[in-house]
Amino acid sequence: MSHKRHTPLPVVVLISGGGSNLQALIDDIEDGALKIEIRAVISNRGDALGLKRAEQAGIPAIVLDNHAFSDRDAYEARLRALIDRFAPDLVVLAGFMRILEARTVNHYLGRMINIHPSLLPKFQGLHTHARALEERVERHGASVHFVTPELDGGPVILQVSVPVHPDDDVDRLAARVLRWEHRIYPLVVGWFSEGRLSLKAEAVEFDGRVLDAPLQFDAVTGAVV
Ligand code: GAR
Repeated sequence: MSHKRHTPLPVVVLISGGGSNLQALIDDIEDGALKIEIRAVISNRGDALGLKRAEQAGIPAIVLDNHAFSDRDAYEARLRALIDRFAPDLVVLAGFMRILEARTVNHYLGRMINIHPSLLPKFQGLHTHARALEERVERHGASVHFVTPELDGGPVILQVSVPVHPDDDVDRLAARVLRWEHRIYPLVVGWFSEGRLSLKAEAVEFDGRVLDAPLQFDAVTGAVV
């Protein structure tokens, strides 16, 4: 059930690129809408624009380049040690474009979430917008889910859907989805920080109720149903 925290929820954010979802979180923290403390932003790429966004917000921005490690086990052992140094209660994957091994995912089970640019379970993996256009789906969107060892397969918490227009290309569609990612990701992080959200077995518990389907964010009304 919901309980009030006295201190902001400690969070670590993992990125690989632009960091616009990270920026949405930073903006809501600065507005006072989100009671979390981003203790570190970690990127596997040195050229990620999101690192600059973190620095500008006064958040430690750290590069842990996977290419500098001989194998995945070694990289992820270092990654876990680095994350754990900041003692986060929640690890937020925000455009982190690496598949994490089961050992890492299980280490953070129930306290690691991801945003994926599709209406899961449709279009797991990469190139989601191109595949949505190829399949001529009428609606596309984004999903926030708990991370489990199954790639893009963890229980979905919240989704937003947008129409696909006949003249869309990948960039237009991606931009339409991304705009709503920036609404739903801070919302879910906020719920988690308020103790309203948890992973129960293979399901999401929200406000004490196990969800039988993901919550839906209505992009027209702003309501969650
Ligand atoms: C977002 O669209 C996010 O959903 C996607 O990468 C983009 C990152 O944008 N994530 C994935 O595809 C994960 N498999 P951002 O760096 O501007 O937040």
